[in-house]
Amino acid sequence: MSQKQSCCFLGRVFQLCSSKSQDKTKKGSPTPSRSSMDYKMAGKDNLLQPSFPALNSQQRLSDAKARNKVELKPGRSLMDWIRLGRSGEDLTGVGGKVLEVDAEELAKHNQINDAWIALRGKVYNITPYMEYHPGGEEELMRGAGIDGTQLFDEVHKWVNYESMLEKCFVGKLKSTPPAHRRVSLLRTLEPGGPANTNKSLLKANSTESKNGPMSPPAFKVPESPTLPKFDWFQTKTTVTLVVYTKWKSMKSDFVVIDKQGNNFLATLYIEDYIYYLHIELAEAISLHYEVKVNTDNGKVDIILTKESEKQWPSVGKHLQKHNKTVKLKDQEIKYRTCSVDSVSQVTHDSKLLCLSLPEGTRMCVPVGYHVHLQHKVSGMEVVRSYTAVTATLTGEQDPRVKDGSVIYLMIKIYKNGALTPWIDSLSKGDPVEVSTFTGDFSEDRLSVCQNLVMFAAGTGFTPMVRLIHYCIEDTKSRVNLKLVFFNKREEDILWYDQLQSLAEKSDRFSCDYILSEADSGWSGKTGRITLDLMKASLPQQTEKSNLLICACGPTPFTNLVTKFAKELGYSESEYHAFQG
Ligand SMILES: Cc1cc2nc3c(=O)[nH]c(=O)nc-3n(C[C@H](O)[C@H](O)[C@H](O)COP(=O)(O)OP(=O)(O)OC[C@H]3O[C@@H](n4cnc5c(N)ncnc54)[C@H](O)[C@@H]3O)c2cc1C
Ligand code: HEM
Repeated sequence: MSQKQSCCFLGRVFQLCSSKSQDKTKKGSPTPSRSSMDYKMAGKDNLLQPSFPALNSQQRLSDAKARNKVELKPGRSLMDWIRLGRSGEDLTGVGGKVLEVDAEELAKHNQINDAWIALRGKVYNITPYMEYHPGGEEELMRGAGIDGTQLFDEVHKWVNYESMLEKCFVGKLKSTPPAHRRVSLLRTLEPGGPANTNKSLLKANSTESKNGPMSPPAFKVPESPTLPKFDWFQTKTTVTLVVYTKWKSMKSDFVVIDKQGNNFLATLYIEDYIYYLHIELAEAISLHYEVKVNTDNGKVDIILTKESEKQWPSVGKHLQKHNKTVKLKDQEIKYRTCSVDSVSQVTHDSKLLCLSLPEGTRMCVPVGYHVHLQHKVSGMEVVRSYTAVTATLTGEQDPRVKDGSVIYLMIKIYKNGALTPWIDSLSKGDPVEVSTFTGDFSEDRLSVCQNLVMFAAGTGFTPMVRLIHYCIEDTKSRVNLKLVFFNKREEDILWYDQLQSLAEKSDRFSCDYILSEADSGWSGKTGRITLDLMKASLPQQTEKSNLLICACGPTPFTNLVTKFAKELGYSESEYHAFQG
């Protein structure tokens, strides 16, 4: 998933060529279960080219989500940006003076060679950052000359801009009169009165940001979702907190619990908002929590075990966040200090890390979701994303994952990378800042599909681990799974032995390995992703094939899979690209 890897994928797209003689004893031999075309299909017609959706159908894959990282020039990596920041060069463009900038002045700096952006009331000179921006100059220019807070948050709220742009700080943004007018209106109109003032201010500011400082004021009373109903009851040994979410896709993984002493916070992720239960519990409870969800009606039971078997007079005192909702997009990114529980080598350059969450925290990362790790590198806070995996693909699972007390991450180390050299240095007991999970994959898609075909390149394998595990573990699942796994060399293949062993054990799973820099001992497939390869890897499609295609890898790889899926006529409902 590195820029380097990206260059390779962009540079040469080879035709797939399979060696004629397949030596089953060698690595790279196709997995023994089934051939790539040997799918059990639901429909009768076996059309090679899908006829649905029609060529001009709205359901076809659109480019709307094509919002990607770009290939940066050599010498423009994050490490290079950190070095530039430390070089002593004036990156503010104003000689390091702290200015007061009004909207009119800000708007003048909207050129690629003279660009300022306002983020949460602070103005930064982003001109020197242009070539270092992983999203590209064009994207960054969308925020030039305006208050880019909302835009920034919509794209990548987790990015630590304050630290990254510290040396580019120009000054403070002067607030404009229309903003004051809107704030005072909101204060009068929003229910909740003075206690809600801060919230109102924040929302008013974000309306301002969206329209840019020069736009006419667009007044809108902020919407908030209907509060779910909360109730509780107790038995001799337990206290159950009940939340009626009415959301049928609710999962127990969407409930995160943090407890310090008797201070209890349950954060429920319900569709596009967050609901909190925040209580100073009346009595002590044990650290084991059980979360049950009724998927018929979205009812959530959080079962707490009493430390002593006495009757509670009440559940406790409601604290600041209790019974409140926040829109998901407005949530603050929360980091918890975890500690390294174990580290093991997966391949020559990849490691499996088990991280223990703080005592009292329960966080089960949903299938296909990732977390951010944050660490200061040469004075700059660096944030990187990592997808949660399982402890193993085939062996006995670590029960602590289901309890939400540990998470596993599989991480490739780049010797010259910004964050991974530090990850490489970690050992048992070391602290690591880990964010709450984030992601956009819906687990429900796995229960409705019959054929799951995963295209993964390098560490793009990590989201597939949970997908495979989910479908194989679920004894009721009849999903046929195929992994098409692209790597440079044989030694780069993550969990090769486990994949082979799974393919031998399960008649529902098969795996194809494709190497771009294979050595002479490799008898398997070589090349890169092509339209023909993709077509050959997918089951012959009919309208009822209930296919799900997933892709993850360096941006150019994922872009190609997306493009080919589109060319083959697959719709958005049949495709998911994980960011990588
Ligand atoms: C949603 C998501 C999930 C992810 N999940 C995982 C995961 O599960 N496991 C995993 O290992 N990774 C994952 N990643 C990637 C991860 O977030 C980091 O990008 C990766 O670990 C690299 O971090 P780094 O800071 O050490 O390296 P970087 O500093 O980003 O450098 C990586 C490599 O690219 C080279 N490079 C960087 N910029 C340039 C340039 N301009 N020109 C030439 N070369 C350059 C560096 O020299 C280095 O070799 C995920 C990414 C996303 C977005
Ligand atoms: C407000 C205007 C901006 C827009 C529209 C924008 C857009 C984007 C896009 C499209 C990406 C790639 C896709 C993605 O990672 O999700 C990206 C990545 C990134 N941007 Fe921006 N960006 C903006 C401002 C900034 C600023 C001011 C910074 C300063 C620090 C920044 C830092 C980054 C970083 C570090 C990444 C890589 C994130 C990662 O690795 O996950 N961006 N941006």
